[in-house]
Order: sequence, then structure tokens, then C-alpha cells
Amino acid sequence: MSDSDTRSAVEAKTEPQSSRRADAPAHVGIIMDGNGRWAAQRSLPRFEGHRRGVEALRRAVRAAIDLGVRYLTIYSFSAENWTRPKDEVRGLMGLLKRFIRNDLADLHSNNVRIRIIGDRERLPSDIGPLLTEAEEVTRGNRGLVLIIAFNYGGRQEIVEAARALALDAAAGRLDPAAIDVAMFERRLSTAGLPDPDLVIRTSGEQRLSNFLPWQAAYSEFVFLSVLWPDFDKSSFEEALAEYGRRERRFGGIGVATLAQKTAS
Ligand code: IPE
Ligand code: IPE
Ligand code: MG
Repeated sequence: MSDSDTRSAVEAKTEPQSSRRADAPAHVGIIMDGNGRWAAQRSLPRFEGHRRGVEALRRAVRAAIDLGVRYLTIYSFSAENWTRPKDEVRGLMGLLKRFIRNDLADLHSNNVRIRIIGDRERLPSDIGPLLTEAEEVTRGNRGLVLIIAFNYGGRQEIVEAARALALDAAAGRLDPAAIDVAMFERRLSTAGLPDPDLVIRTSGEQRLSNFLPWQAAYSEFVFLSVLWPDFDKSSFEEALAEYGRRERRFGGIGVATLAQKTAS
């Protein structure tokens, strides 16, 4: 195992807080893409790209803390990633295990609260307990909330919520007329979390790939060309700067237009 494998996840906790932005988005989602291409460019096996991707993840967590982000959701493995070759899937499962084992103590000491979203049923039997342990150990922490989307699929999540509501209705516990957006959200795996303000995707691809389709209804999207293993704090800052230039309207007419109207 290399030095960087065992390096502290948030060792830069002593970094000056000067880069904290007053207008930082509270919740950032990241679609960590481009590991395979990073490796291919170097004639390395895809696994090496994924391994280096874990190092980029550590940098992203440190940067999120330093930049004042409160919630960070990272897309680690999609419900559709099972279609990849078996050895690649096995490698990705192994990396998640290693990440939790190597970094849990460090994340905990840095007050990070871990939450996992996604289907745990179909995971190898040794992973479920590790994920539960990570959540239990960090439950009382009040720093960054790190949400790991593992074996996650947004459509599957929505179907699960609909099925749970349908079962309650069929059993007479729920009046279908009472179902509204807020009630639906309470059945999602992200219940209690704010929606992502910003979704970043690396590697130049411009699609959601089943990442938080419900929750990202009003998110800002920033697509970076950097491949995930090369992602660093400056990439994070670049995305936040772009976010800072956006005007979020949520269906309204926007602050500038509103000011114009009141002035006239
Ligand atoms: C992202 O990198 C990691 C996962 C999807 C698990 P990819 O493995 O998708 O890399 P590319 O898109 O093939 O370059
Ligand atoms: C999305 O990336 C999934 C993760 C980053 C975990 P993919 O590489 O799987 O997405 P597609 O297949 O290019 O849409
Ligand atoms: Mg990809």
C-alpha cells in the first residue's frame, strides 16, 4: 500500500479557514467520473484510476471542510455499474472497504458525519456491517456530513418510495389524497437532508447518470473537464466560483429583475 493510501483523509484540518466562502453552497454533490480514461491515458489498468480516485476523494473531503460546505454527496457506485466486468466491480467494492477501514477514524476525529445512501441488500456481506459501523460511529458528529452514494440509483430510490407509500395505502394506513411532495421526500433515502445546491461532474460528461434526479430538480450543474483522479482543491474552487456567478430563480423572476420592477 502506498503512503497516500494511508494518508489522513482530512489531515489538512489545520489549514487556514481563509478560503471559506460566505456564499458557499450548503450541499454539493459530486459525480466522480473519468477514472478509467485517466488510467487509459497512462496505459495503466482501470483499477489504478479508481485507486487514484480515492486519493482525489480525500482531497475533495478536505476541500469541502475548508471551503465551508456543510453536506457533500459523492457518487461512488451506481446501480448500473454492476454491468461492468466482474473484476472491476470487485475492485471498486474493495476500494470502498479500504476507504472506510483506513479513513473512518480520521473522518471521525475531524467531526465528519457519514451517511450512506443506496441499496445495501445486494452488496457483498462484509460491506453492509462496515457501512453501518461508519454511520453509527459518526452519528453524533456535527461537522461536514459526507453522504456516500453506493449502489445508488435515483430511479430505483423513487420507485422504492412509491412502493412504500402504495403498501401503506393498500393496508389502510395512508390516504392516497394526503400524498404530497413533502411526504414523498420523507420516504427517500435522503430524508432530512437539504437538496444539493450544486452538482459537479468531472471528465467532461454532461449527464446525471441516475444521480439524485429528484433532489437535483433545482440544483446548479457545473461540468469540469478534469478527470476525477486529478481533481483537487482548485477544481473545487473553480466549481464554487462558477456557482457564485449563477442566479438561482426557483421558478421566480430573479433578484435583479425584481429590483428593476420595484424601481420602476
Ligand atoms: C468513475 O470513473 C468511477 C465509477 C463510475 C465507479 P469511470 O470508471 O466511470 O471512468 P471512465 O468514465 O470510464 O473514464
Ligand atoms: C456515473 O458514472 C457513476 C459514478 C460516478 C459512480 P458512469 O461512468 O457510470 O456514468 P455513464 O455510464 O458514463 O453515464
Ligand atoms: Mg464514467
